[in-house]
Amino acid sequence: MPVERTLSIIKPDATERNITGKIIDRFEEAGLRIVAQKKIKLSVQRAEKFYEVHRERPFFSDLVKFMSSGAIIVQVLEGENAILKNREVMGATNPEEAAEGTIRKDFAVSIEANSVHGSDGPETAVEEINFFFKEEEIVT
Ligand code: CMP
Repeated sequence: MPVERTLSIIKPDATERNITGKIIDRFEEAGLRIVAQKKIKLSVQRAEKFYEVHRERPFFSDLVKFMSSGAIIVQVLEGENAILKNREVMGATNPEEAAEGTIRKDFAVSIEANSVHGSDGPETAVEEINFFFKEEEIVT
């Protein structure tokens, strides 16, 4: 299986509730390694840019408002099949549809405040990692 990197975000609902360690533990338990990590707050403009692909969706402005409302942790996860593995560990976008034992099932509040984001494919993973990190900030 290929070793991949993927972008992971721990969202404001999770930093607010002080449960970031519990969430990070799920990634590490699944064999994903954190090779870059920082706590930041997105401006409205940066959140709009990150979620540009969703601009026409009805939830776009609420999403941007939420993602710029508080601290987030952005991180690069590395491991075999990291993109798919991260998505499995996160669970479905809507916590009501998320499988037992997933982060969103156990911690998410709603489809918007769903605790985590993860890249959805190899190209987005590269784009999203480059959005937040310089190469020298990624340490294996
Ligand atoms: P995320 O993986 O960060 O990508 C886009 C986000 O939009 C998604 O997680 C959800 O948190 C949020 N969102 C809010 N409403 C919806 C919706 N109706 N359908 C899909 N995503 C939504």
